[in-house]
Formats: sequence, C-alpha cells, structure tokens
Amino acid sequence: MKKRLLLTFIALSLAVLSCRTLLPGPALDPTPLPALPTQPVSTPIPSPRPTFQPAPTDSIPTEIAGAGADTLNDPYYPQMGNGGYDALHYTLDLTVDLDNNQISGSTTLDAQATEALSSFNLDLHGLDVSAVTVDNLPATFSRQDDELTITPAAPFAKDQSFTVSIAYSGRPQPVEDIFFPDETVGWFADAGVYVLSESAGAMSWYPVNNHPLDKASYTFRITAPKQYVVATNGLMKSEVVKGEMKTTVWEETHPMASYLATLAIGHYKLFTETGPNGLPIHNYFPPEAGGEITSAFSRTSEMIAYYSQVFGPYPFESYGAVVVPLELEFALENQTLSVFSYDMVDEITVAHELAHQWFGNSVSLRSWENIWLNEGFATYAEALWVEHTEGKAAGDDYMRDIYAKARAKNMAAPGNPEARHLFDDFVYYRGACVLHALRLKVGDELFFKILHEYYARYQYGNASTDDFIAVAQSVSGQDLQAFFTDWLFSAEIPPLPQPG
Ligand code: TRP
Ligand code: ZN
Repeated sequence: MKKRLLLTFIALSLAVLSCRTLLPGPALDPTPLPALPTQPVSTPIPSPRPTFQPAPTDSIPTEIAGAGADTLNDPYYPQMGNGGYDALHYTLDLTVDLDNNQISGSTTLDAQATEALSSFNLDLHGLDVSAVTVDNLPATFSRQDDELTITPAAPFAKDQSFTVSIAYSGRPQPVEDIFFPDETVGWFADAGVYVLSESAGAMSWYPVNNHPLDKASYTFRITAPKQYVVATNGLMKSEVVKGEMKTTVWEETHPMASYLATLAIGHYKLFTETGPNGLPIHNYFPPEAGGEITSAFSRTSEMIAYYSQVFGPYPFESYGAVVVPLELEFALENQTLSVFSYDMVDEITVAHELAHQWFGNSVSLRSWENIWLNEGFATYAEALWVEHTEGKAAGDDYMRDIYAKARAKNMAAPGNPEARHLFDDFVYYRGACVLHALRLKVGDELFFKILHEYYARYQYGNASTDDFIAVAQSVSGQDLQAFFTDWLFSAEIPPLPQPG
C-alpha cells in the first residue's frame, strides 16, 4: 500500500498546530515546520468566477423521451453524476469474500425521472454487471468507461418513479481521482475492508449517481464471514448468522452524498455511549487499541453538544468512528461514521471530522469548486473547539498560526482551487481564514447568526459559495461582496480586519 503523502502533510501540519496551542511561551514557536509539499505558490485566479449549473432537466420536451445526460456538468469532475432522474434510496445487498476480495450481489435504486427518459446512466467503475431490471422487468444495458447506460423496456414519463436493480460481482478496482495523482480512492481490502471515496470513489463498489448534488438515503445488507464486525452509515438494524456467514443490515435514513457511503469489515471492538439528546455514539476500535486512541475520542459527546450549540442541531441519527489498524495517515468524515487510520487519531482531527457532519455532510457542496465550504469550515471548527476548551486566547493563537502560515507560504486563494488541488492545505488554511476574517469583520454575534442561518437553510441539501455569501449579507445587512472576493479569490491573503 502506497503512502498518502498529501494527507500526511495535513496531519503533520495539524499536529504541529494543535501542539502549539498547548505550549505556553512565545508566540513564535521554534519547532521546525514540516516541509511544504510541492504546491503552486499561487493558483491562477479564474476570472470571472464560473458558477456551477446543474444539467438542464427540461431541455427535452416532456412528451418525447430522450437519453438522460451522462454528466451533471461539474467543472472539476465532468464525468461524475448523470442527469434526468433523482436518486431517492439505494439498497446495497452484497456478499463480501474477504479472502479473495470479491463482492457479489445487487444494488437497487429507487428514483424518480425528472424528464421523459428512454435511457439513463449510472456511474460504475469495473465490476461485472450480469443483469439489470427496471420495475422488475429485464432491461438492456451497456458500459463505456465508468458509465453504465440502462434502457428500460418502456420509457419513463417525466416525474415517473422507478426502481432499477443491478446484479453485479467482481473485485472492486481502485479509482484514480484527479486530486490524488499517485493514490486511489474507493474500496480498500486491507485489515479487512474499508472505504474512502471522496471524491470519486463510490463507484468502485456500487452503481451510483456519483455526485453530491444527488443525495439519497441508504440500506446496506452486507453478508460476510461471521467472525467479522460490519459497520456502515446510520444505525444497525439487524444481524443474522446463518452457518458460517452473517448478514448485517444498516440504514442511513438521511440524505447522503455518495462519497460519504462507507463500509468497514474487520476485527473491531465496539464502544458505545449516549450523546446529547440520547444520540447513539458507537466507536469501532481495533481490539488492541490503547488509551491514546480511546482518549482522543473521549470528548466526542461534548464536541457534539458544543457544535450543536454553535452551528445548529446535530443532523443525523448516530455518530461514531472506525479506527482502521493501519498507519496510512487518513481521516475521512463518512456520514455518521468517520474513519481514521491508527496514526491520524488525535483530538483536533476528531473535532475536524465531526464538524464535517454539519458542513459537508448535511450541508453538501453544489459543486466541487466550493470545497472550502467543507474544508475551510471544518478547519475553523478546530479553532472553535480550541477556543471552547482552552479559552479565547488559545483559539486566537490557533488562527493566528494558520494565518501566519498561509501568508508566509504564499498560499493560493481557496475559492476555486482547481480539481488537482482540491484537498491541498491552502484550501484548509485559507478557507478557515475566510471565516476568521468574517468573524472579525462582523463581530461574534452576527458571525454565529450567519453560521446558524446558513446551516438551517441548507441542512440536508446543497449550497454554493454564493449561497453562503448571500446568507452572510442578509443576516449582517452588509455588502460583503468585495470582502469575500478578496478573501476567496485574491492571490495574496488580505490583512485581517481589525475586530469591532
Ligand atoms: N475530507 C478529508 C478531510 O477531512 C480529506 C480527504 C479527501 C480524504 N479525500 C480523501 C481522506 C480520501 C482520505 C481519503 O480532511
Ligand atoms: Zn476535512
């Protein structure tokens, strides 16, 4: 398994930051900073700023059924997603052969046509499709690259509901993602199975409308040898052992972006607790995990209570973490079940992935160019947690360090970073600085009102940078266009506003 250099860098930087907040002493920390990865000193500023338009759904006269679009026109991921229908619920029914890393079974999708359709597409990478039915009738299908095109026996009228079921099997193939040139995303068979899909990896294990614009609820019915623990998104509904095999059913009832669908199969020890308002918290740790793992998660419930207060109510039916016994330096905010490798477990990263449940998972991107709405918010949430637990001065120091690094390293503007820089540290650092600067500019009261209003308005849905700016302007009653243009799109990071 190759090393995840990019995320390693993020981990190291965050570790340095979090240590520094604990160290008393001079503001200038003599600890050498980790070497910066080779990143552009500045990213060209696109002008004018493109805005994302989903594929038109009414381009075809409703009475004439046509082929659904094979894209949702995301400028960073032109192959991701498909038009013509709205995915409502996925049911994954898969048997996993861990010895051979083979899966077999079916994915069933309940959907609704948004236009009259003679055919439609799903995204699927590798795997062998053996049969497709639509509303229980055989349908024809063809494949090209990562597109699975399905032609139902009879066309759909606009607004018609339908159920498509795809039977498939094979060995999941790694997905190359444009932001991650030497690595892959999706399904991994190591220490059991785990799934890290952001951004394009979901299609490595199920056919899907693979873009966060088309969120859906999920049922997972996973059959694996009975000695393994199986965890996915949402809540476990049942576990039935039959001979040597066990079928575990989980359900995520809230809308979920495909990149957040996950699965962990392995030898895990389950730790449960009850969070705020009776929220079930379930953590899956390797049996050998010691105090350094359990203690990093010991404040999860407190974090949920705190973020619920500053952002709005926790959006989902459960929360928890899977710690995979590998040293590969990854952490990903899978919905209700964040996943961490052994060496990425620390309290700041735990806070970061939890904060994504609000920003990223409940409020999802309209388009990947808006990635700062995920990573900038989750990074700023780290500073908020430090402020909450260690005091105002410690939170300020945390952001002062981030700002100083962004300036010293000439980090690029976060507003439209280009697909290949989607998760580079400038998105995290300068993204967090946008929120910090906004807070200094409008003051605490309006700032937290803006966060609340933005979350309340877009929870369980999708938002864009312009949506956030609009909320900030309407809540504050101020014209903030120039402010946001500077902070999001200027090559050079602006000076921080004077508070007040
Ligand atoms: N969203 C992750 C974070 O919170 C970063 C990330 C993006 C990632 N894509 C990934 C992690 C794929 C692991 C695998 O920082
Ligand atoms: Zn993140």
